[in-house]
Amino acid sequence: MTSSSKQFKRTLVTSALPYANGYIHLGHIAGAYLPADIYVRYKRLCGDQVLYIGGSDEHGVPITLSALRENITPREVIDRYHVANEEAFNGLGISYDIYGRTSWPLHVDTTQQFFVRLEESGHIHTETVRLWYSPKLERFLPDRYVTGECPQCGYTGANGDECEQCGAQYTAEDLLNPRANVPGDDSTPVLRDSRHWFLDLPDFAEQLEAWLDSHPEWRPNVRGIAYGWVHDLRARCITRDTDWGIPIPVDDEDAKSKRIYVWFDAPIGYVTNTRQWGLDQGLGEDAWKDWWKDRGTRMVHFIGKDNVPFHAVIFPAMLMGQEGYITADQVVGNEYLNIFNRQTGKSEKGSKSKGNMISVRWALDQLSADCLRYYLCAIAPESKDSDFDWDEFMGRYNGELCDVVGNFVHRALTMAVKNFEQAVPPEGALDEEDQAMLDVISVQRDAVAEALENFRFRQALERFIDLGRKANVYFDQKQPWVTRKTDLERTATTLHVCCQVVHGLCHLMAPFLPEGARKLAAILNIELPAGGPDGGENIWKRAGDFLPAGSPLQKPEVLFPKLDPDAVAALAEIHEQGGAL
Ligand code: 2FM
Ligand code: ZN
Repeated sequence: MTSSSKQFKRTLVTSALPYANGYIHLGHIAGAYLPADIYVRYKRLCGDQVLYIGGSDEHGVPITLSALRENITPREVIDRYHVANEEAFNGLGISYDIYGRTSWPLHVDTTQQFFVRLEESGHIHTETVRLWYSPKLERFLPDRYVTGECPQCGYTGANGDECEQCGAQYTAEDLLNPRANVPGDDSTPVLRDSRHWFLDLPDFAEQLEAWLDSHPEWRPNVRGIAYGWVHDLRARCITRDTDWGIPIPVDDEDAKSKRIYVWFDAPIGYVTNTRQWGLDQGLGEDAWKDWWKDRGTRMVHFIGKDNVPFHAVIFPAMLMGQEGYITADQVVGNEYLNIFNRQTGKSEKGSKSKGNMISVRWALDQLSADCLRYYLCAIAPESKDSDFDWDEFMGRYNGELCDVVGNFVHRALTMAVKNFEQAVPPEGALDEEDQAMLDVISVQRDAVAEALENFRFRQALERFIDLGRKANVYFDQKQPWVTRKTDLERTATTLHVCCQVVHGLCHLMAPFLPEGARKLAAILNIELPAGGPDGGENIWKRAGDFLPAGSPLQKPEVLFPKLDPDAVAALAEIHEQGGAL
């Protein structure tokens, strides 16, 4: 039995905390946020106890470099982007239970507790290392503050201790042709001694390997990266020469000019935000412990592939070094969403310098959340990179969601409302086709559920659309618009069956397309209560239940308005000019 089929009492879901130094874009959404939200919404509908934790990652070099470049303070940077990104997530219907901040004072406490525990149990040591120092600025140059040539692949944009191009990790002095990479300084730095704190990852090698071995069900990309790390574990520096970050909780003169490394504190943000959530809910100081220290909790991390080592090796080791914490049962690592360039006919990586990314806030000014969610789930980069392509975006949304599901719902409900006094028509004797159509509803419901339980979001969405396809075939076979003139009882039965399919579709779309589901539930006069951390009734199961004949219906509205090709072409044009940021 794989652990995914074990029975857990509750599910804790986390999505990577994005740096609060820029606007989140559709690439982020397709990887770590939309799949998590779909999963959480599905679990809530199932009546499971589920808590969804998110927030901003507000420390580290990305923030201080942005501040330097804009000539503002790091605090101004994080305040701006935290608010904007929370708003963007809300607009897209990403339904966090809390969207926290690593700049909260509570987070200092959580992080320092983690550090102290690791230190007291002998998993942290200090070392004096040679680091790049700018005589001009009279400061050390951590991480991206220095750039040079990668000793392994020769990439010239490599930073202080790792290369984004080939993934190599090295000591600072191995970087070739270093230059300072700070506004106002591109001088050649010098090497200087600096004493730092290191986490002894090799102490956890056996435990980590056993834990990975117990999860053969994880995606191969995640397992591959994690095993690669675990087989070559080294002590890792967890402090930096900077004043922006969490103070190192030791009584040591050297610690005063340094802070805890952002990648140590960021994942602890999940714990802090759970603590804050418990306090906000009035559940008391210890409410978070049920979610982090009870074996009945199943923790699932949703991340992009660049975050795999942190979530499948380093953070788990940090948790293993604490008292009583659980580790993740699933790490859902996604590949990248690239951009299809119509000019060159090629796929390209989203990059700030190319200006080819599409920010969520820009996209939401132009398009509905549901149409973005639909396409991003349809092309989710689950097992390989995928491309955002405007033509495909319009083709899939219009051709699948609008033409298949939207059209069926509209045709069926319009006829029922017009011909049967705005209510679910009475069913007469069911023939084989009627029965088969009714049976398909719960078959598709279970197929969607199975795919979601196994984190196959594209497949789950296809199963939902399949129900719409089958319903259209049934509708066309039964031709209620013809039988209406000759056999009203037959027409009533057909439309009765169609109303049941619409009811099923309403439930099945809810995790993917919350706005469409909300509108449709109002038309059907049904409730789709979103369960919460306490769990509740299994609403998902009801997808296969039937609406009684005579249940009132509202006049249908268009759930998914079609996109106009000219309008989409205009958006593609703006994007190509770098105007979608
Ligand atoms: O890659 C990033 O954007 C990081 N800020 C993700 C952090 S995830 C977690 F550890 F908080
Ligand atoms: Zn390299």
